[in-house]
Amino acid sequence: MGILLTALLLTGCGGEEKKAADSAKVLRVGTEPVFAPFEFPKEGSKDLTGFDIELIEALGKQMGYKVEIVSMGFDALIPALNSGNIDVVAAGMSINEERQKAVTFSEPYYTSGLIVMVNKDNNEVKSIKDLEGKRIACQIGTTGENKSRTVEGAKVKAFNTQDEASLELKNGGADAVIGDAPVVEYYMTKAGKDFAKTVGERMEAEPYGIAVKKGSKLAGDLNKALAELKKSGEYDKLYTKWFGEKK
Ligand code: ARG
Repeated sequence: MGILLTALLLTGCGGEEKKAADSAKVLRVGTEPVFAPFEFPKEGSKDLTGFDIELIEALGKQMGYKVEIVSMGFDALIPALNSGNIDVVAAGMSINEERQKAVTFSEPYYTSGLIVMVNKDNNEVKSIKDLEGKRIACQIGTTGENKSRTVEGAKVKAFNTQDEASLELKNGGADAVIGDAPVVEYYMTKAGKDFAKTVGERMEAEPYGIAVKKGSKLAGDLNKALAELKKSGEYDKLYTKWFGEKK
């Protein structure tokens, strides 16, 4: 009886439409949303925007998914992927060997690298070499934290967000921040304008990838969709919108 009723409802008037909406595939995307210009809240709203957000929305659309964004701590993203609570991670996540043991990455979609940020009036620290024995602020679970921990004798202060690490610098609780250059540079045009500057060169290149559960076929689908967005010019359009002309 139940089955019959359902069948009637599905084939009845307006049933087709309802069926299509119900079966729209949902792509659950995990991110840590305090990472402008990649993922951050739209002004005056809880909705997120940024390069990663618009890219994953475009990729999802291309793949026939409805994208649903789920925010959490950066160090919770890989566990959430592996427990099946999310399908992909789009969070400015650098592809590295350690993570590749736990997850599968898409092809790189952006090239980043770490940089050191200090207070404007700091004339002592000229590069990471000058940070030995100093207090370094960074975000928990990031490559910036890993790098900070390689500095001899440094006191590493790891915060939940990159913004909190930067605030610690501003408040004098740290001598430097180590973080992703595009994010640090964006910060210096906003909240960091009056107090912060970068020193030294960008460190080694860090490609960002979209992470999926190890071995998931989503990686191949994402790569195909990414290639299509590159071909159609949509990727370039997004890139220019967020970063200006490609250098
Ligand atoms: N690229 C760095 C890493 O993978 C930092 C990423 C932080 N991302 C974020 N959404 N907070 O470790």
